Amino acid sequence: MNTHTILRPIFLLATFIVALLTIVGCGDDTRHYVIGVSQCSEDSWRSKLHDELDIATYFNEGVTLRYASADDDPNLQENQINEMIDAGIDLLIVSPQQMGELSSAVDRAFDKGIPVILFDRKTGSNKYTAFMGADNYEIGRMCAEYVAEQLHGQGCVVEIGGLKSSSPAIDRTRGFRETLAKYPGLKIVGFGNGDWKEASGKRIMEDILKTYNGPIDCIFGGNDRMALGAKKALLEGGRGDCPIVVGIDALPAEGLGICQVRDGELTASAIYPTHGDELMTLALNILEKRPYQRENLMVSSLVTAANARVLLLQYEEVVRQGNYLRRMHERIDKTLHTIVLQRTIIGAFILLVTFIAIVSILFVRAYRQKHQLNTELRDKNQLLATQRDELQRQRDTLQEQHDQICEQRDLMESQRDELAVQRDELQKLAHLTPA
Ligand code: FRU
Repeated sequence: MNTHTILRPIFLLATFIVALLTIVGCGDDTRHYVIGVSQCSEDSWRSKLHDELDIATYFNEGVTLRYASADDDPNLQENQINEMIDAGIDLLIVSPQQMGELSSAVDRAFDKGIPVILFDRKTGSNKYTAFMGADNYEIGRMCAEYVAEQLHGQGCVVEIGGLKSSSPAIDRTRGFRETLAKYPGLKIVGFGNGDWKEASGKRIMEDILKTYNGPIDCIFGGNDRMALGAKKALLEGGRGDCPIVVGIDALPAEGLGICQVRDGELTASAIYPTHGDELMTLALNILEKRPYQRENLMVSSLVTAANARVLLLQYEEVVRQGNYLRRMHERIDKTLHTIVLQRTIIGAFILLVTFIAIVSILFVRAYRQKHQLNTELRDKNQLLATQRDELQRQRDTLQEQHDQICEQRDLMESQRDELAVQRDELQKLAHLTPA
């Protein structure tokens, strides 16, 4: 068997394997993106956003989301962003805890060419690709107009601002204050910056109550949690209920904003939209180099007792659809897994069959060649045997001739001896005969 005969089936097998792997692995030309989502905090509002982003990935198969939450620790968030950059992400979505704090890590991502979407909060640096968030100034303005309307332009307001130096807190307070200033009858009698959590709203109100004994007609919280914390402090401090409690976020779930408005715990709450689907669209527009807007402001609206139930009903429907999508996605995932498994098994089976076929071909070829060689060998042996017999025969003939020659020689020698005897006798006779 020469090298060519061996190499040909191996070459065929290799070509077949490559073709097979291409077939088994084909059908997936989606581009894959890893999107890092760096959250300053962990709470219901951010969980809602994550749910929406997760659902958005069902329609964008190639996207993998990597979440990190810094639990209100800017140093941790900075480290998490740096880790994401080092691990390799295609785009960064970040909700920075405060202005300034995270700029270096976010700037680093931007300088490395990683597109950056600031979501909900800003860094203060201009190094970002796009911003998406609500117009917090407008939210503050809208809340102030509502308070003014409810109090008919007269009353004492306590404001619990959000985390100092975080962009929503700054803008909400500015929008609220600048609008309230139009109503000389409305006074801010107490203010403090919380950290977005209920306990901070309560603590601030407790501090205010230590020095302020006058009426409180309205609590305006930088978010629902802080507004309710302040309300609790008022009740626990024996100061009675506050007629108007306005917050921000209006999350549509039991125990949260819209339900609290429905149940009368909050008078109103401004929706702080999450819109994870739009955020995903923006991210993909950037990644796929499609046109996009750099500043994307989401519209807010006020939830009051008048619309809370309708909004909840609508949201229940959204949740139902979301759950349905989730179930569909799980099914599709399962089916895809089965298909991939089947493809792999079929691929492996075809490989095995091909392998056996090629080995069989090689085996048959080798057997045939061996058989042919055996036949040739047998013919040659027969030829040699015939030649050997012929030689044997010739040698026997020669031997016979040799024996005959020897016999004749012996005969001739005996005749010669006889002649010599006769000659001697004749000579003797000649001597005896007188001349
Ligand atoms: C959630 C939250 C919201 C608030 C927003 C401001 O983390 O605290 O309650 O509206 O962040 O960025």
